[in-house]
Formats: sequence, C-alpha cells, structure tokens
Amino acid sequence: MRRILKSASPSLDAYRADGGYQALQKAVAEMTPAQVTQTVKDSGLRGRGGAGFPTGLKWTFLPKDHPGPIYMCINADESEPCTFNNRILMEQDPHQVLEGIILSCYATRASIAYIYVRYEYGPATRALQKAIDEAYGAGLLGRNILGKDFHLEAYLHRGAGAYICGEETGLIESLEGKRAWPRIKPPFPAVEGAFRKPTVVNNIETAACVTHIIGKGVEWFKSIGVPADPKNPRDAGSYGPKLYCISGHVNKPGLVELPLGVTVRDLVDKHGGGVWKGRKAKGCIPGGFSMGLMTEAEFDTALDFAGPGKVGCLGLGTAAVTIFDEETSIAEVLYNICRFFEHESCGQCTPCREGTGWMLKIADRLRRGQGRLEDLQILEEVGDKIGIMPGTTICGLADGAGWPVKQAVRKFRKELESYIRSGQKAKALPVLTGH
Ligand SMILES: Cc1cc2nc3c(=O)[nH]c(=O)nc-3n(C[C@H](O)[C@H](O)[C@H](O)COP(=O)(O)O)c2cc1C
Ligand code: SF4
Repeated sequence: MRRILKSASPSLDAYRADGGYQALQKAVAEMTPAQVTQTVKDSGLRGRGGAGFPTGLKWTFLPKDHPGPIYMCINADESEPCTFNNRILMEQDPHQVLEGIILSCYATRASIAYIYVRYEYGPATRALQKAIDEAYGAGLLGRNILGKDFHLEAYLHRGAGAYICGEETGLIESLEGKRAWPRIKPPFPAVEGAFRKPTVVNNIETAACVTHIIGKGVEWFKSIGVPADPKNPRDAGSYGPKLYCISGHVNKPGLVELPLGVTVRDLVDKHGGGVWKGRKAKGCIPGGFSMGLMTEAEFDTALDFAGPGKVGCLGLGTAAVTIFDEETSIAEVLYNICRFFEHESCGQCTPCREGTGWMLKIADRLRRGQGRLEDLQILEEVGDKIGIMPGTTICGLADGAGWPVKQAVRKFRKELESYIRSGQKAKALPVLTGH
C-alpha cells in the first residue's frame, strides 16, 4: 500500500519508476509457468477474497496440457458490507493489481483475464481500464508479451450490483450474460468454469500479493504474518500482509496494511483512533457480515486465518472490521444483518430463500418490541440448518446469513432476552451496511 495516495501512482510511468513490472519481466525471462506456480505455492499465499484457499494449490487443479483456452476471472465484486480494500487498490494502484493478474495468467497459462468489477465502482473501473490500455500500449498485454511466446487479453466486465455476483460460480454465470445463480459443485471452476472451460477465480488483493511474491521472493513473504502451527498439520499458516478495513463506531475509520495476525483491539485502539465519543465497544463484525460477531471480551483475537474460528466465527473473511459501541442495540444489528441477506439471497435454494426471510421477519418483530423468548431458539435453529456446511444449499451465502444470527443470539443472549422481556423498541442505529 506504500504507493497509495501518491498523486501519480496510478500511471504506468510512475509505477515503472517505482520498480513496477520488474517481477513480470523476471518471471517471463527466467521462470517457467510451473516455477511461478511453485513459487506462489511455496509462499503459502492464501486467497484474500474470503475463504482463504491456498492460491498456488488452486492453480494446480487446472487440467494439465489442456488443449483449449484457460480463463482467469478476477473477482472485484467486493459486495461484503464494510469491505473496500479491492476498491482502494484498483483506484490507487491499478498497475500493481494488473501485474499480479498478468503473472497469474502466465503461471496458469490463461489466455484471457476477465476482471469482474462491481457496478458501483466507477472510479475503480476507470482507473483499471486506463491501466489496461496503457499496458496494451507498452506490450504488457496482447500478443508476444515482452517479446515472448506469451499472449494475454484482458477485459473489464461491470457487474450489475448484487452480492451473489461475488460467489465464484455466480460471477461466472453473470459473466456469461445470465442471472448470477451459483452452480452446484463439482465440477469446480478449475475443471469447468467460464464458458465451460477450465477457470481460476482469484480476488484482486490476492493478485496484488502475487506481484510481490515474485518480485521480492518467498522468504520475504513468509517473514510477514503468522507461521503455520507445527502441532497442527491442517494449519496452512497466515503469511503476508493484509489490507484491513476499519469502520463503524471508531474515531478514524479507514484502510490499513498490516502483517496478518493483528488483534481487533490493536486495530481499534492503535489504527482506528479508539471507539468514538469516549464510549466503550460492545462488539464487532470481524470480517464482513458473513463471518459472525465478536464481543468486546474477544477483541484480543488475532485476525489471521485461524484466529476468528477460535471464538466461533466462520473465518477471517474479508478482514473488514466494523465496531459497534456500547449504546448500540443488538436487536438493530441483528435486523440490519438479516435485512441484507434476505435481500441478497438469489432464491434458488428453499432453505436459503425461506430461511433468510424467516430470520428477517423474526428480527423485525423483535426490534419492534414484539419478540418472544422462543424466537431466539428459532433463530438459532434456522441459522444452524441453512448453508452449504449443513448440506442444504448450493452456495455459502446461506452459511454467511446464518452465522451472524446464531452468534448474535449465543453471544448477546442476555441483552436480547431482557430486550424481549421489556418489550422496548430499539433505538435508531446508524446504518452499518454502508461502504
Ligand atoms: C455469497 C458469496 C459472496 C462472495 N463475494 C466475494 C467477493 O465479493 N469477492 C471475492 O473475491 N470473493 C467473494 N466470494 C468468494 C469467492 O467465491 C471465491 O472464493 C474467491 O473469489 C476466490 O478468490 P481467492 O482465492 O483469491 O480468495 C464470495 C463467496 C460467497 C459465498
Ligand atoms: S444458498 Fe442462497 S444465494 Fe446461494 S444459491 Fe442457494 S439460494 Fe442462492
């Protein structure tokens, strides 16, 4: 992020003056695609889009010696509430992102990169399109890139503004010109993706990391973040830097780049300027709505790929932390979350379509002071039963819808119970869903 907010940083000349495109030059001149893939695998890079899947490993799932085209879909849909790290990267340093995309295509032998940008991101779309045009002009895209037998076309595709377009197969359907209904998997995109051809889907921040892994090396990348736990063979570690979004009731909302593993407390106190109005925090949404909730007592949790799970959250998610202060009504937080997911469910799967609707109706009743104690149990049950993890839906939106609801009930039960008993109306709450 060191180039961000420098006036000329988005231009190709300024990027090159800062050493830009040297990683690509090195890779194309000195490394085979397999070596680039192996380097990314060795770095331990895990996807920054939410699921944290190891990037190099994902690339190896592509069929070997596939005779037809391979596609790279770059996910810049970024619809998770309070998440804006992809936007800043695209607006402020588009060539850093583009270099990572070109490197990823070189590694995977992809001949076309589709960059799927959410509709609302006008300045980001324009900045990235300008960078693409400059790259074509400089021989960094198109035929015979840097004089080698490497050909790549890059296209920007603007979404129409729906959360589900960020789910990788929903994105692919939308790219193909259809309604963004996620596909049943398998087949996974690596085998059958865009236009039924092998496809990799990666996030914008993941691509930006690739630039630095190739440029600065595996050792550099692995010296940042949290190493894998040697006692846990399933822990893949949390290596590299991360862009953390801070929003909600803090004095200084914004975006900070830090080694993976910072605690929520440090994010709030050291980087977010503390909780606003001299109040205390009641809790936070640690990684986008879909990851669940944390209480203030859990703020010493490390925000790496393993940390949030230790306090019952779904994962690191987008690492977009939204703080709510002690005066915030959990009934209103719950309602806001339910309203978002009910609106964004694509409606294909009955448990998600109906479940998000039920949860919204209950949350609405509750905030209006008409809740019943048994509603809390119903919310927990619905939250537990909808999703790809319990095996009842096609995609993970439903897991993300259920997780914060059941956590709100389990972690803030006393407040919700006393709220129901008193039959009070929740105080109006500042909107938490804005970007
Ligand atoms: C409902 C839903 C919405 C998602 N939205 C996004 C998104 O906006 N951006 C993103 O990169 N990944 C999103 N994902 C995750 C993608 O499906 C996919 O895992 C990711 O783009 C892979 O990139 P990565 O491996 O580089 O993280 C979403 C997943 C689900 C289930
Ligand atoms: S889980 Fe929800 S969002 Fe995902 S496919 Fe099913 S209905 Fe659509």
